[in-house]
Amino acid sequence: MEASSFIFSKNNKTPNTGQFTWSSPSNIALVKYWGKKENQIPENPSISFTLDACKTTTTLRFTEKEHDDSFSFDMIFEGKKNQDFKPKIETFFKRIEAYLPFLRNYHFTIETENTFPHSSGIASSASGMSALALCLMSIEKEINPAITPEYFNQKASFLARLGSGSACRSIEGDLIVWGKHANIEGSSNLYAVKYPYQVHDNFKKYHDTILLVDKGEKQVSSTVGHNLMHNHPFAQQRFTQAEENMTKLIDVLKTGDLKTFIEIIESEALTLHAMMMTSMPYFILMKPNTLEIINAIWAFRKKTGLHISFTLDAGANVHVLYPEKEAADCIEFIKNELVAYCQNGHYICDRIGFGAKLRNN
Ligand code: DP6
Repeated sequence: MEASSFIFSKNNKTPNTGQFTWSSPSNIALVKYWGKKENQIPENPSISFTLDACKTTTTLRFTEKEHDDSFSFDMIFEGKKNQDFKPKIETFFKRIEAYLPFLRNYHFTIETENTFPHSSGIASSASGMSALALCLMSIEKEINPAITPEYFNQKASFLARLGSGSACRSIEGDLIVWGKHANIEGSSNLYAVKYPYQVHDNFKKYHDTILLVDKGEKQVSSTVGHNLMHNHPFAQQRFTQAEENMTKLIDVLKTGDLKTFIEIIESEALTLHAMMMTSMPYFILMKPNTLEIINAIWAFRKKTGLHISFTLDAGANVHVLYPEKEAADCIEFIKNELVAYCQNGHYICDRIGFGAKLRNN
């Protein structure tokens, strides 16, 4: 598919008013997206687990307005009018306007809330942008009811990507690929797709316990971090490595080889942070307790032989990953030894999920 396939063709009358509510999850990348070209095109393919508990619910209300000169919207975040997100939404609307020309015809009220606390250090851009993209697609579907579910999801992912790259991986579940990869059929830089090959039972119902090490605002945004991959001394090797890790994962996911799985995902997490530490300007998002947790996981794994592992986002929090069949022992270890490193003892028990849901309005 080309980007032009997503240009809106208006056949029917647009509704005067209406509302849609979507609930959309966050996701955690196993092979990381870090570095992008113009128009939110990733430098390398990435793959993620869709999460279940961490999600954003967004209600989009729309009313036709008289003049279609500018974008008009109010943002209500967790019950209160919020101006902070407005520039991001304005940029998003500008980027997607060519694909949804009805945007200027309406005044929108975007009411949104997260299941995770606002100041948790968990980025809400993936769940937030995907929820908003889905609400907008519901308007498109009302105008053009003939669009297929496949097109609906593809275009929702395509639009979400233009809001925040990783958001395109939050539409469906449970394993999602974004970015063209020669060995993954149907993969695209424009939108994410469900991982199309066999997945071993070891990876079904995988757990992700998110340890909230630092709930403060990040010092460096992902967008700035991505840009620092331009002229980065290790960029090309990093993009090649990500391609290779995707290839290796295809086999690992099929055979259920947890040992190699852990090697790949932990290396990916540390490489992501290594890229931050070696960019110019350089920066460090890990905190002392991030390292304490990583070392405790390695020691426990060595002692028990259990397949507990970690990955990191662009922040200090640690995602502790483990398979369903080892969950009881891993949870006990987390509670006894890792929660002490969390800010105010806060953590979130999450697991693989199956994508966004339309709520009854
Ligand atoms: C480290 O999707 O937040 O989480 O496209 O600029 O909005 P923008 O960046 P964003 O970057 C996420 C980076 C990451 C890795 C990943 O999710 O693949």
